[in-house]
Order: sequence, then C-alpha cells, then structure tokens
Amino acid sequence: MRKKRLIVGNWKMNPLSLKEAGRLWRDMLQNISSTKKTEVVICPPHVFADRLGKMGRKVILGAQDAFFGEVGAFTGEVSAAMLYEMGARYVIFGHSERRALGESGETINKKIKSALTVGIRPILCVGEQTRDENHGYFNIVKAQLEENLKGTPKNVIDKVIIAYEPVWAISSTPGRRDASAEDAHEMVIFIRKVLSDQFGRDASAIKILYGGSVNDRDAEEFLIRGGVDGLLVGKSSLSPEKFSKIIKISEKLK
Ligand code: PGA
Repeated sequence: MRKKRLIVGNWKMNPLSLKEAGRLWRDMLQNISSTKKTEVVICPPHVFADRLGKMGRKVILGAQDAFFGEVGAFTGEVSAAMLYEMGARYVIFGHSERRALGESGETINKKIKSALTVGIRPILCVGEQTRDENHGYFNIVKAQLEENLKGTPKNVIDKVIIAYEPVWAISSTPGRRDASAEDAHEMVIFIRKVLSDQFGRDASAIKILYGGSVNDRDAEEFLIRGGVDGLLVGKSSLSPEKFSKIIKISEKLK
C-alpha cells in the first residue's frame, strides 16, 4: 500500500490569542472529514499546544521547534520530551526563519537526535536562499542534510521527514517568486540520492515534503508532478477553508 501522504500546517507565530487559536482549530476540524490517505498535522505556537491537542483527534499535534534534552537549566526553552507529554508527535526543525535567527546546523542536529529518542518525528526543513546559474543550490541542500542528520542512527532514520522549502518561494520572503513542480521534483530526486549515500537503503522510507507558498490552487500540481509525499503549508494553513481544500485534494489523489 502507498504510504500515507503528510500535510503539515505551520502556523508560525500566529494567532494572537488562545481564543482565536481555539476558533481556528475548531473550524479546521469541522472542515476536515475523516482522512484515509492523508495524515494531517498542525503545528501551533507552544503556548496553545496543550489546549488545542485536547480538542480533537482528526488532526495530529505538532510543534515548530524543540530544545534538546528533557529537563534542565535552559532558560526559555521547551524540550521535545515536554511536547511529547503534551501530545505532540511531530516537530519542525531547521526552518529557514530559525536559521535566519542564527540557529546553527550543529544545534539542529542535536535537536533532531533528541526528538527521536523521545519518539517525536522531526520534520527537517532544508532549502536554498536563492538559485544561481551554476546550480550551487544543490550543494547547499546537500550540506544542510549532511550536517543536520550527521550520526542519526540508521534504525530510526525512517522516522525523519524532510521538507524542501526554497526560501525564495516562502510567502514571507520579500520579492518571492513561485517555485514550480519541476523545481521541487528535481530537488526531491537529488535529496533522495544524498540520503541514500548517507544512510543506504534505510533512507528510502523517508518522506519528502514541499513547502513554499503552497495553496489550494497549486497543491495538486506539487503532489502529482513534484514527486513529494506531502506538503508543509504556512500561510494557507491559517485559513480553514484553504487548508481543508488542500487535504481534500490529497484524499482524492491515488
Ligand atoms: P508559506 O510557509 O506556505 O507561508 O510560504 C511555508 C513555511 O515557511 O513553512
């Protein structure tokens, strides 16, 4: 059987209040009928996770980052172990917005390994800032994968999810432009090759998602011709109507 597609909503630092978050989550659940071919994950800000996680089962709770270790003297941080206790089963790591704030590849690597030990599935974001004529962006993505996944035990590598997010296509990037399904597809093929060089056959089970301004109009295109196993959706995940349409598209495909 085909592995389930994965559609992940990244709410980023939205919305402002718990009340609004609750409304958004409820509207989302109402719009989504039960899914057979799709796993739906929503990653709200940490402060809303507990309450939202208790509101319904159709959607899996995720998070947008987590610190390594379980507990300890790390002021301001939240560990993957704590999020797991709260019901989260996926965490986004290495998002370009966090890398831009100075998060290093080494830290991302430690966070991923730590999440895996507590049973949280890491969604590792990789992607280049810009595209150059010499195709240097392939090397950028390769270096991110190698550094961020270094030393990940082979027996859990299939739990890792990769999200290819070209920064130039993300909705918040000034002067952004659309990536095409072909752009995604060629990178997916390349990522598969890098992963298989790094982890051998075990890497073939890794799901690869595309993210970067995905909406209800181009989701089908990315899912069919982009060669991806799912999508990481930012802005459109804040609209229950658009997000549920994207899920319906995934359900209708083979
Ligand atoms: P976007 O965000 O869909 O708003 O471009 C995707 C992301 O940054 O994860």
